[in-house]
Amino acid sequence: MSVAVVPRPAWRAGLDTEYADVVARLEALLPCVEWPLHLPWIDAIQRLKRERGAVVMAHSYQSPEIFHGVADVTGDSLALAQAAADCDADVIVLCGVHFMAETAKILAPQRTVLIPDLEAGCSLANSITAEDVIALRARHPGVPVVSYVNTTAAVKALSDACCTSANALQVVEAMGSERVIFLPDRFLGAHVQTQTAVELILWHGACEVHERFTGQQARHARERFDAKLVAHPECPPEVLVEADFVGSTSAMGRWLAQEKPGRVALITECSMADNLRTQFPDIDFVQPCNLCPHMKRITLPNIHAALVEMRHEVVVPDAVAAGARRALARMLEVGRRERV
Ligand code: 13P
Ligand code: SF4
Repeated sequence: MSVAVVPRPAWRAGLDTEYADVVARLEALLPCVEWPLHLPWIDAIQRLKRERGAVVMAHSYQSPEIFHGVADVTGDSLALAQAAADCDADVIVLCGVHFMAETAKILAPQRTVLIPDLEAGCSLANSITAEDVIALRARHPGVPVVSYVNTTAAVKALSDACCTSANALQVVEAMGSERVIFLPDRFLGAHVQTQTAVELILWHGACEVHERFTGQQARHARERFDAKLVAHPECPPEVLVEADFVGSTSAMGRWLAQEKPGRVALITECSMADNLRTQFPDIDFVQPCNLCPHMKRITLPNIHAALVEMRHEVVVPDAVAAGARRALARMLEVGRRERV
């Protein structure tokens, strides 16, 4: 497919005043030479969003210029899934990885869902195929399957329910079974296992970003910086036992709002600290630089190109989408029951 090269939009007078709120946030996060380079892209994307009737949804691991500059909706994978289900815009530009864009399309089939880079994948989603799920079901007949949303639509379609890191325990327990096949993250699964009497049958997947953290690094952050430790449940158990709090990216923000620590080390993807720093100016963040190479494939220029060329449209075959939608609906239903 040929892709037209769109020239970098030019700076125009008054941009920094027009986007004073964005400048204020980016100034605190990016080197001073960098944010003026982003403003023309941000301006061009904001205009295109209006023309196309588009919303930009960005995961918490997106770079600050995306998260603060162009996103209409931000949050963890559960928040993005819920926002897609409730969305009435014509176009959703999903700034995250491919399984998140697929989830948005499955929950909002009548919307055009675009992902700026089709190669934005995920080591967890790549760790298991539909054939693997069929084989697991054959090995454990009658045992329900709960799949983390970090899976392909084809794997979701063969699952009884999906979950995210924010609701995995609730979804597992809602299955009403003594045993549950839990896919594909062995560390999230092991973490849920510490909190439930349900016996979990685990797969061997792992997040290539979080599996690299070690218990020694966690202890070093606590001792060297006198910091509270907040970790994502995709980290290995030796890290999670050190943490003061374990939770999804949205739950981390809620914990900080409640506990107000003076200093915190976020044991998760690097951009998370940037995106929380503006919300909590009184907290000192110790920021590990573990970048997710897939999340970082999304950039302002390719978001702009996505809106100019309406690319890359995410398509999920109807038969797969129907099964995956059922599994996602079961997850969202558990969330609704928890809220009432
Ligand atoms: P959340 O469910 O916390 O958004 O995590 C998704 C993810 O990919 C973390 O690596
Ligand atoms: Fe996948 Fe890990 Fe990247 Fe999240 S951080 S998208 S789990 S590879």
